[in-house]
Amino acid sequence: GLGHAVLCAQPVVGNEPFAVILADELIRPTTSGPGAHGATAQLSSAFARLCDAKGAVIGVNHMPGEAISRYGAIKIEKVLPHADGDAMQLSGFVEKPKASEAPSQYGAIGRYVLPATIFEHLKHIKRGSGGEIQLTDAIASLLADEPVYAVETVGTRYDCGTKLGYLEATVKLG
Ligand code: G1P
Repeated sequence: GLGHAVLCAQPVVGNEPFAVILADELIRPTTSGPGAHGATAQLSSAFARLCDAKGAVIGVNHMPGEAISRYGAIKIEKVLPHADGDAMQLSGFVEKPKASEAPSQYGAIGRYVLPATIFEHLKHIKRGSGGEIQLTDAIASLLADEPVYAVETVGTRYDCGTKLGYLEATVKLG
């Protein structure tokens, strides 16, 4: 699973914060504003602003209704207002909840800026949703030690993990 894939990167990452980019999510940069350099750059500037040596920033989008059950859903502790987009401090993170049990309608969109301490959490968590080592569970474990923030990324998103999303991305970008 994704958690195991991220753990494989430890030897090249070392002790620096790093970004995880899930390639089946395509997010187009906006023409101006905080999304102009792409979603990862947006998260990385939030990380520079909010995280002083500790913590993580994850990208989220609002997922209406049942859609939230296909994503990692955040539980929001508090909102920190900011001109370039509010940051939401997390108090929980649940992988693919039932829509009726989702802690919010904000789901992870496959962009994360993480501290190297995440590797220790990945090594200690149990298998979760789908019997896999889940990055979501490691971030939920990190929450106990370090602040984790979510930022709503701007820019059109294509979920290429669905057939329709893949087709749309091909047509729109082609
Ligand atoms: C993965 C993550 C999930 C995240 C999603 C974004 O799920 O486990 O938390 O919301 O990517 O696309 P997957 O798409 O691999 O099932």
